[in-house]
Amino acid sequence: MADVAWNKKDLLGLEYLTKEEIELILTTAESFKEVTTREIKKVPALRGKTVVNLFYEPSTRTRVSFELAAKRLSADVINIASETSSVKKGETLIDTGRNIEALKADIIVVRHNFSGAPMMLAKHVGISVVNAGDGWHEHPTQALLDMFTLKEKLGRLEGVTVSIVGDIAHSRVARSNIWGLTKLGARVTVCAPKMLIPPGIEQMGAAVTSDIDEALKGADAVNVLRMQFERDEGSAFPQQLDYFKKFGITEERLAKAKKDLIVMHPGPINRGIEISSEVADCPQSVILEQVTNGIAVRMAVLFLVSQAREGKHETVD
Ligand code: CP
Repeated sequence: MADVAWNKKDLLGLEYLTKEEIELILTTAESFKEVTTREIKKVPALRGKTVVNLFYEPSTRTRVSFELAAKRLSADVINIASETSSVKKGETLIDTGRNIEALKADIIVVRHNFSGAPMMLAKHVGISVVNAGDGWHEHPTQALLDMFTLKEKLGRLEGVTVSIVGDIAHSRVARSNIWGLTKLGARVTVCAPKMLIPPGIEQMGAAVTSDIDEALKGADAVNVLRMQFERDEGSAFPQQLDYFKKFGITEERLAKAKKDLIVMHPGPINRGIEISSEVADCPQSVILEQVTNGIAVRMAVLFLVSQAREGKHETVD
């Protein structure tokens, strides 16, 4: 690998990273994964730093995982949910961010329902901003943990074939996975009913199909996405049962795919809608391993952005 330096104070999306920068995050995460297996799962890398989790949307995995990652790095952690903050009194995201900066925090991890919110925030504060999912745009740490898990299972990402099946239209996970996987040489196919395939997805480097058997045939991994009913205005979604019949990942469909096909899902799972319970819990499923790997990947991200803000540029050879 070429000598790579990380010099970004923010992590806003995989679209804005080079192949080498993505590889650096994954390599750094490998070291941190070892830390998470120790009896004392803590290193002093961010001692004296404060990480604020600022979430404007519900979350279980990402929020807990960022909190654990920050604590494993010895940082102090504050969690703010918009429902119980001054956001309810009309405070804007930028004002909230500036106040968090005035309180001498070092990193804001933000999840927001508006695409582009983390970028806007990063322009208005000097401290680091990490995107924990913005609207339909990107969920970079989810894609990084997906890639980390795939690399752990397959030993490589170059030349690997990944099918992403489900609600592509509303999915920030799909977009981040397409950017990241294609930059690292994987082949990506997206599969959904035509109405859930957004324009421009092929230009991002993904093949497109609405044939589920074609999507699974020859794939090394399938990443199953949830139907995001909460983002639908009422017309775009096929009936739930109809969707499961035509696109649901079931044992019957798995039987026609590669016998060691890896089954992934970013969560939360809707059993019986996009995936059957049998498949979600089958030996090929790495869904809970993805969750575990999220801690190491987020430790790497928090560490790298913190180092960059201090002018310490991490490198790998
Ligand atoms: N995968 C994911 O983002 O899950 P949460 O919404 O629970 O954070």
